[in-house]
Amino acid sequence: MTEPLIRFDDVTKRYGDFTVLDDFCFEVAPGEKVTLIGPSGSGKSTVLRILMTLEPFQEGTLQLAGMSYHQENGRGRFRASEAHLRQIRTHVGMVFQSFNLFPHMTVLRNIVEAPTRVLGLGRAEAEARAIELLRMVGLSEKKDQYPSQLSGGQQQRVAIARALAMRPRVLLFDEPTSALDPQLVGEVLGVIRDLAHEHDLTMLLVTHEMRFAREVSDRVCFFDKGRICEEGKPEQIFSTPREDRTKEFLRSVL
Ligand SMILES: Nc1ncnc2c1ncn2[C@@H]1O[C@H](COP(=O)(O)OP(=O)(O)OP(=O)(O)O)[C@@H](O)[C@H]1O
Ligand SMILES: [Mg+2]
Repeated sequence: MTEPLIRFDDVTKRYGDFTVLDDFCFEVAPGEKVTLIGPSGSGKSTVLRILMTLEPFQEGTLQLAGMSYHQENGRGRFRASEAHLRQIRTHVGMVFQSFNLFPHMTVLRNIVEAPTRVLGLGRAEAEARAIELLRMVGLSEKKDQYPSQLSGGQQQRVAIARALAMRPRVLLFDEPTSALDPQLVGEVLGVIRDLAHEHDLTMLLVTHEMRFAREVSDRVCFFDKGRICEEGKPEQIFSTPREDRTKEFLRSVL
């Protein structure tokens, strides 16, 4: 078996007295496409936010491509330094429900900003790559517009191009179509579907689009109360779920 690219080992995450993830274990293989489904508050976004280094956790270990989110010395175990976390973050991209584009920058600037600033790419190279990505998401002609001049679906496609511009090994999607008008959902799912055919890219996707999850995922994980209650191939989870909680959840969303 290949080494997992992502490995959560007994991760516990609390907010005050409230335990969101309790001894959470989860592994993702390189190139794997995994969908996280489950009721509101079950911890799906928390898993993505921890991976993106946006949230610390209290116990357990997490590794991405062999890099640990912690460091140890004679005095104990600490969250890795900001410099180290920044290093980890160059391998992970995240697409949010609310796009989060920089409003004062053009589409092109939005995409070249991080590669030039963080990766030190030359402007010409970054722009060439951005234009290629804009073509991929079908927005070549919008490069000089500002986010406010785009539809939600277009903004989200720019956000995906922006995440890809960093050439991440892992791309995280947290309900990427939930904020969109129904008629714009398809264009964004289309882009994500194309990406899912990229074998090198590892994808973790939180979505309520169950049909889509079924099409693109290698594995579906059903979350309940901070744990993976059931996981398996999409056909198995959607057609023959084993756990009562999974059946109940699927009945409520399908
Ligand atoms: N900053 C915070 N402070 C306190 N509690 C929080 C915070 N962020 C999340 N939580 C709690 O952690 C739990 C898990 O939240 P999370 O956002 O991971 O759920 P989710 O599965 O993504 O839900 P949804 O489907 O509604 O997005 C929830 O009970 C939530 O209230
Ligand atoms: Mg969430």
